[in-house]
Amino acid sequence: NYYAVIMAGGVGSRFWPLSTQGYPKQFHDLLGSGQTLIQKTFSRLNRFIPKENILVLTNERYKELVLEQLVDVKEDQVILEPARRNTAPCVLYASLKILKKNPNALMLVAPSDHWIEDEFTFEKNIKRCFEECAQKEILMTLGVKPTFPNTGYGYIEFKKKSGVEIKKVRQFREKPDYETAKIFLTKGNFLWNAGIFVWGVRSIVNAFQKFQPELYTLFAQGMEVYNSDNESDFIAENYEKAQDISIDYAILEHAKNIHVLLAGFDWNDLGTWGSLYNELEKDGNQNAILNAKTLLTNSNRNIIKTGPGKIVVMEGLNDYIVVDKDNILLVYPKEKEQDIKTVLVSVKQKL
Ligand code: GDD
Ligand code: MG
Repeated sequence: NYYAVIMAGGVGSRFWPLSTQGYPKQFHDLLGSGQTLIQKTFSRLNRFIPKENILVLTNERYKELVLEQLVDVKEDQVILEPARRNTAPCVLYASLKILKKNPNALMLVAPSDHWIEDEFTFEKNIKRCFEECAQKEILMTLGVKPTFPNTGYGYIEFKKKSGVEIKKVRQFREKPDYETAKIFLTKGNFLWNAGIFVWGVRSIVNAFQKFQPELYTLFAQGMEVYNSDNESDFIAENYEKAQDISIDYAILEHAKNIHVLLAGFDWNDLGTWGSLYNELEKDGNQNAILNAKTLLTNSNRNIIKTGPGKIVVMEGLNDYIVVDKDNILLVYPKEKEQDIKTVLVSVKQKL
């Protein structure tokens, strides 16, 4: 009854110039571990979910990358999106396909690009969520203790008097502004949303029907053709009509039956160069160096990533991101790393 869907259609634009539209970060070995992020994700799930029950949701243009990198995944397990519509449409589409096969299925929704080293605890936590969702019509989230007012995450407020391991959720707030995030942090009963979800397929489909009736109607029309030869025609014609919205805004901000389990494992969403820096080995001056040969003086806490064997000489540079890829060289302060997303837009317009 256990299924998993891996969301692997994002672009990872804050990791430019390494991550690009043609080759996004989930297909890179960001950590220098010998495995790409999506490969690591797959093996983490495959510990307790049969490989044939793991589906990958991604944009059409990444089909070959997925099949090349995940050798255990067959073509019909890769669910292709003809247009970029964020995570709500693809989760609904995948849920309906699974529902048709097995209405009692329990499903894990996982991002393709996170760092989680303690796979044992991850497995234990997810199994606990599965058990809970088998008995109740609830939507389970995984929460992480927040350490600073990060505005790139969703925040989960739990009810203080509501269970030890699993708590009821009072409200879910996706990407609040900085002032609001600061207030949340002072409260003590707010967690970061890890972006990992568990629910029964029936529960999530019901939630879509209730809170996103248009999206629901669009995809429910295809019920007859899902998992058949006519499916791709239906999707080619209808997918782009879907609203562009994430699962967080579409469902989690509205649903009243959300529960949260406090994740027992260390977690990093590898959203920015700075978050990658935190997971890498450093030299004596706290520089994290990937591939480059370096001669660094008076330079501290930088992250330097180049092609193999590139020689980098630096004097007096602190807290910078230095990335050399093909014909692009990025030198950017770590404290402004969130802006790389918009820099990329200007680069495309101006250069
Ligand atoms: N298939 C598919 N299609 N996958 C997508 C798409 C899409 O259009 N867009 C994004 N994804 C994938 C990304 O590759 C990633 O693995 C996952 O969905 C989440 O998308 P992000 O774009 O990385 O979301 P986020 O980081 O801004 O926010 C989410 O994750 C945070 C934790 O990392 C939210 O769930 C937040 O609430 C959460 O705190
Ligand atoms: Mg993310």
